[in-house]
Amino acid sequence: MRITGLGTAVPARVVTNADFAAYLDTSDQWIMERTGIRERRIAGPGETLSGLCHIASLCAMSKAGVGPERLDAIVLGTISPDRRLPAAACDLQALLGARNAAAFDIAAACPGWIYALAIAEGFIASGRSKTVLALGAEKLSSVTDMTDRSTAVLFGDGAGAAVVEPATEDGRGILSIVLGADGTLADLLYIAAGGSTEPVSAKVVQERTHYIRMAGREVFKAAVLAMARACDEALAKAGVSAGDIDLMVPHQANLRIIEATAKHAGMPMSKVMVNVDRYGNTSAASIPIAIAQGVEEGRIKPGSLLLLVTFGAGFTWGSVVVRW
Ligand code: ACO
Repeated sequence: MRITGLGTAVPARVVTNADFAAYLDTSDQWIMERTGIRERRIAGPGETLSGLCHIASLCAMSKAGVGPERLDAIVLGTISPDRRLPAAACDLQALLGARNAAAFDIAAACPGWIYALAIAEGFIASGRSKTVLALGAEKLSSVTDMTDRSTAVLFGDGAGAAVVEPATEDGRGILSIVLGADGTLADLLYIAAGGSTEPVSAKVVQERTHYIRMAGREVFKAAVLAMARACDEALAKAGVSAGDIDLMVPHQANLRIIEATAKHAGMPMSKVMVNVDRYGNTSAASIPIAIAQGVEEGRIKPGSLLLLVTFGAGFTWGSVVVRW
């Protein structure tokens, strides 16, 4: 299975660390030192998740030379759909006019795009699909408490879309995919209300329980452990070693997590894609946005061997070795 076209989209509005320091008890220095984030993109009024997905998808489809009617499935990794019902993938299907495509969302938090790729691979391997659009997109600003300094400064909005098709004979394509989850740690990173246990109410809004809550330090530790293991597993499954990898593209949550993961995998930072400074943590969109930048900068070329690795709420994780 191969990615034949990749597209991304981010909102135009840039929010800097100084913008947060203007109203929260935080500083550019704290945010830079603890996270590596300098700025992030936050959607403005009227900028929707499906709208960002639409722009990213058109770009991916044009690169792949695929029209909307060729798509037979749209799989969208997101935890911030336009509305609770229907799936944002259905809104996207309508925007694209992809009338032959099945469409559904999957909720796997930051690894959403890797989970979507794995589903695309399964659909193609089983013969169910020939052309799948696999997306990771997030408008986390809609579920972030902008008065909570421990989460507000971390997240950004964005979308990434990949056209996935059967592999050709030239050796390019996905060599391994590893997925995992540990639901026993769910309470370290969650949104308490707005689901069926605690539907939205005046009390929920007053107590702000419709926003993300996170035990940052514990999440940090779990992220480093899970990403390290996921790297090892994806490399072993693909039958390659860290030395064979041209570029590691990790989930962009925190520069210190990226550095610890790279160290474990034995990858020098010169071979690691980092753009958390520009976009913050865009969750499911983070890896496709980083790959697109790597391609644009000439760090990823046809035939480059990439190691992708990610981690998020659930907890969930995933890793991929792909020959680009
Ligand atoms: N500005 C200033 N001080 C702050 C801020 C802030 N924005 N946020 C927290 N602090 C304070 C804390 O209150 C604490 O103060 P105290 O010592 O007086 O109690 C102090 O800074 C240290 O807090 P820690 O949480 O220990 O800081 P840490 O070095 O762990 O950094 C961070 C916090 C950046 C959140 C880090 O733990 C982290 O990145 N965790 C992982 C988050 C993540 O990767 N999530 C990924 C999944 S996201 C998803 O799936 C949607």
